[in-house]
Amino acid sequence: MYIPHSVVLGASGDLAKKKTYPALFGLFRNGFLPENTHIIGYARTKMTHQDYLARVTQYIKAPDDETKQLLEDFTQITSYRSGLYDDDASWQALDECIRASEAKRQLGSGRKHRVFYMALPPSVFVPVAEGLKKNAYAQDGLTRLVVEKPFGMDTQSSNQLGRELGALFKEDEIYRIDHYLGKEMVKNVMMVRFANIFFNQIWDRKYIDNVQITFKETIGTEGRGGYFDEFGVIRDVMQNHLLQVLSLIAMERPISTESEAIRDEKVKVLKCIPPIVLEDALLGQYVGANGKPGYLEDDTLKNKQSRTPTFAALTLWIQNERWEGVPFIMKAGKALNDAKVEVRIQFRNVAGSLYKGSPRNELVLRVQPGEAVYVKFNNKQPGLSYQTIQSDLDLTYDSRYSNMKIPDAYESLILDVLRADHSNFVRDDELEAAWKIFTPLLHTIDNPTAKVPITTYPYGSRGPAELDGFVRRYGYDRSDENYDWPVQSLSSTSESAPPPPRL
Ligand code: BG6
Repeated sequence: MYIPHSVVLGASGDLAKKKTYPALFGLFRNGFLPENTHIIGYARTKMTHQDYLARVTQYIKAPDDETKQLLEDFTQITSYRSGLYDDDASWQALDECIRASEAKRQLGSGRKHRVFYMALPPSVFVPVAEGLKKNAYAQDGLTRLVVEKPFGMDTQSSNQLGRELGALFKEDEIYRIDHYLGKEMVKNVMMVRFANIFFNQIWDRKYIDNVQITFKETIGTEGRGGYFDEFGVIRDVMQNHLLQVLSLIAMERPISTESEAIRDEKVKVLKCIPPIVLEDALLGQYVGANGKPGYLEDDTLKNKQSRTPTFAALTLWIQNERWEGVPFIMKAGKALNDAKVEVRIQFRNVAGSLYKGSPRNELVLRVQPGEAVYVKFNNKQPGLSYQTIQSDLDLTYDSRYSNMKIPDAYESLILDVLRADHSNFVRDDELEAAWKIFTPLLHTIDNPTAKVPITTYPYGSRGPAELDGFVRRYGYDRSDENYDWPVQSLSSTSESAPPPPRL
């Protein structure tokens, strides 16, 4: 479909300059933006056209002349308007501007489509949606509204936001972004599961012992204390990004690859997850270490007694035939020793006495950095030994698909919006099911009288000291302490004295 007008609301903000514009440029560069597209930036800030361009292109990399030229061309298709978020006259002026551009492009009847990206703080979501509906809604074409989290703070506030937006825009006009759904490895989950006969057959409680979904960041919340303190790590990344990954891992096979078929299955599996209980949670907050400030020492943090978790490990249970009894452990933390996101599926021990005690198989989907799919499996140690060693079947994208460029998640999602594909966006009932799993726990944590235990961990560490015990409690077996992926060389293994051959 040809959508000639894209309007970025909140064009002067962080999200717009870091994500939306670089993604739009990526699509432009690769020829995926419809010809004759006009991108209009809109925000409260008054700025000149030159200031606008400087601001929205500052995160776009243009290392060579060809890209520089493309960036120059890109700046020709965009303009800026300042206006208020709660003022009809401002929205009418925006509408005028779009109409003038539509007239210039001589768009035919029924083809004056508009997409609005709300790169905005949640406090203005509703007034902006109202202003758009009243004054800038496409009268002779389709309108699409792209919104991004936070979608409320709990079930109630999210439902209220849903009702308010739902009164203005139809569900099929709304695209709720969870940018994890645009990540290459997350988009790969369905393929791995349903296009491989062997994974498909062993994907249940009979073969899988536990699943871990891990999100680690090395940076703390420095400078973001205001936003973060209100939300905490559970609302920031677990209720949305990690839960989306979980639902793709756990859902049943959809009847087709149509967006509604996929979303139906995601909703179904989420509805089988009871609310997380406090006993299944380990919470932590980082303290200063390694020359870095603690969470409470950040200047942007107002409440110096804050008990907001910056780390959480939560175990979710899925009450259905496939997953009953299999713990899904989500771990997420800021200011840790490593930056990575991965899914680790650990299989059960092999039965029988032949190779009893060999390490468990694991399937790991590395989301970032460096996409990879690998299976930890047991192999005979090469040579005269009959010892079993842990090895891997490794599909590291960098080496296997070396000449392929993986698009940024936003680039891929914006393209989906332009193509009217809802598969990778969050549906209203999905959002509600997601909040129901987290809301009771979040309310307990937020309640100061509940005094929920929160442990500390040093900036730059692996997280709370209790973490290893926590994951062990749910059956995770870190069988080979020396094995670490990516494996650089096996020489240390082969140099170690082999056991006597089993003749
Ligand atoms: C955002 C969170 O939604 O996702 C951030 O608000 C987090 O706190 C970010 O850092 C992680 O995204 P990515 O793409 O860097 O893994």
